[in-house]
Amino acid sequence: MLDFKDEIAEGISKCIGVEAEEIKGYLEVPPDKTMGDYAFPCFRLAKTLKKAPPMIAEEIKTIMDVASNLISKFEVQGGYLNFFVNSNALVKEVLGEIDKFKENYGSSYIGQNQNIIVEYSSPNIAKPFHIGHLRNTIIGNCLYKVYKFLGYNVTGINHLGDYGTQFGKLIEGYKRWGDEYDIARDPINELMKIYIRINDACKEDESILEACRENFKKLEDGDDYCVELWNWFKDESLKEFQRIYDLLGVEFDSLNGEAFYTDKMDEVEEILDKAKITKMSEGAKIVDLEDKGLGVCMIRKSNGSTIYATRDLAAIKYRADTYDFDKCLYVVAYEQALHFKQIFEVAKYLGIPEKCVNGLEHVQYGMTRLTTGKMSTREGTAIKVQDLLDEAISRTTKIIEEKNPDMEDKEENAKRIGIGAVVFNNLSNTIIKDQVFDWDNVLSFQGDTGPYIQYVYVRTKGVLENVGYIPKLEEIDTACLLDETAIDVVTTLYRFGDMLKSVTEKNEPSILARYLLELAQKYTAFYNEDKVMVDDEKLKNARAYLTYCVQTVIQIGCGLLGMEMPSKM
Ligand code: ARG
Repeated sequence: MLDFKDEIAEGISKCIGVEAEEIKGYLEVPPDKTMGDYAFPCFRLAKTLKKAPPMIAEEIKTIMDVASNLISKFEVQGGYLNFFVNSNALVKEVLGEIDKFKENYGSSYIGQNQNIIVEYSSPNIAKPFHIGHLRNTIIGNCLYKVYKFLGYNVTGINHLGDYGTQFGKLIEGYKRWGDEYDIARDPINELMKIYIRINDACKEDESILEACRENFKKLEDGDDYCVELWNWFKDESLKEFQRIYDLLGVEFDSLNGEAFYTDKMDEVEEILDKAKITKMSEGAKIVDLEDKGLGVCMIRKSNGSTIYATRDLAAIKYRADTYDFDKCLYVVAYEQALHFKQIFEVAKYLGIPEKCVNGLEHVQYGMTRLTTGKMSTREGTAIKVQDLLDEAISRTTKIIEEKNPDMEDKEENAKRIGIGAVVFNNLSNTIIKDQVFDWDNVLSFQGDTGPYIQYVYVRTKGVLENVGYIPKLEEIDTACLLDETAIDVVTTLYRFGDMLKSVTEKNEPSILARYLLELAQKYTAFYNEDKVMVDDEKLKNARAYLTYCVQTVIQIGCGLLGMEMPSKM
């Protein structure tokens, strides 16, 4: 794709003999369209060139004026030189690229030879998949897809929480009261009840807690009974998680969870010992990070058990060795910020390549709140994600029944709209922000919602069905698309690839979600202003073609967010 910024930077560079790369870094997008598409703040070079900024601006303008057919107008405003892109060139470029790349428009090779790990979802077995894990899964899935689209070599890892003292507790509870519960019928819920009960018992009686810790130690040591129970908890949980992943269309390249690192922790401990950063404290082995304001990172408890952090350190070493990653992204709630700061600090001593240490990144997201407040599995107030997704679909079905009872593919469309609404809702605001889940907002066909975007997509389909064909690019007279609402759409389409790059630079899927809203709104304005079904064939074809472009980009963008498009609405 032609990069207007590059062209302008090249042009300026030729005029004044400063490197184009440097110039490009200075170019700005003015806050107001009347000031042009790009602006060059000449004061940046005042010192180097020993001239006043307005003078520099005038000089560049005079020289460049004749040179470029991509820029239609130059304007000096104070110390700024403003550039107005030649709209016709822009339209030609955008339509041409979409025609050429189709469903790959916006993709690139910038990620070639770079290995990215996206760790996401990571629910805990024998516990419900809660609404935080849902948000996590949706965010991670989007990042996974966008990195891939930009040519990175991506590995998606579901770091299952399948290890830890809680399994000692669960085993203890099961031993005591297993036959009081109908576990075969509804495994996770029944196990949760046992878990809550044993937790209460532990609070009352220290010796029960001790027994639980012992069980976990036995599990680590490979005790038959404990291992068998644990395997069964894990199988049942995975079956339940899989139903959710299927509904969301989410896949992973690896399900290596915490337990996978059981036999990989001794080595890590040895490396840290050799680096002389561990020490004993009250019988436990720790790394003291107090001088960095990060408290202490425990490596091994006094009873010899490893902990969450130990397994994470082993995972970092294993992933560096196995995947030689350039970036390893941890999509995990902000509550665990300290944990990640600690393990990233300790990772400096693991003897892994510098680039891996620098590539570790915690992608934090905020809590989802329902009216009942924050949910904790220990108190058992969590709502089940499976229920939430089912409800999204059934509520959508109801809306369809009311509005459009004769719709074809009602069931499939209700699923796509309901799930799409939940997905979009999770990504529509900066992910670090806490969010409130409110059914009416989530499922609304208007406003900042997934259904609104799907609705606009379905409209583009309807428009093209009315027209009866998708015109050929060669038949398009780009001069028909130079009015304001059309250019607005084209400019937005032009930004698609760059916008995706900023999604990966900031690890922020909401940039894509917001972009799609903007595109949908701009298309709606265009559609209202510039009727497509007009008698003038040239006009009709051009407008239909732009409609096709919008449809293509909404489809690509929503796909990257993790949404499917309905056929009707
Ligand atoms: N299983 C954990 C939880 O549900 C999240 C795991 C995060 N990933 C990690 N590498 N520690 O809270």
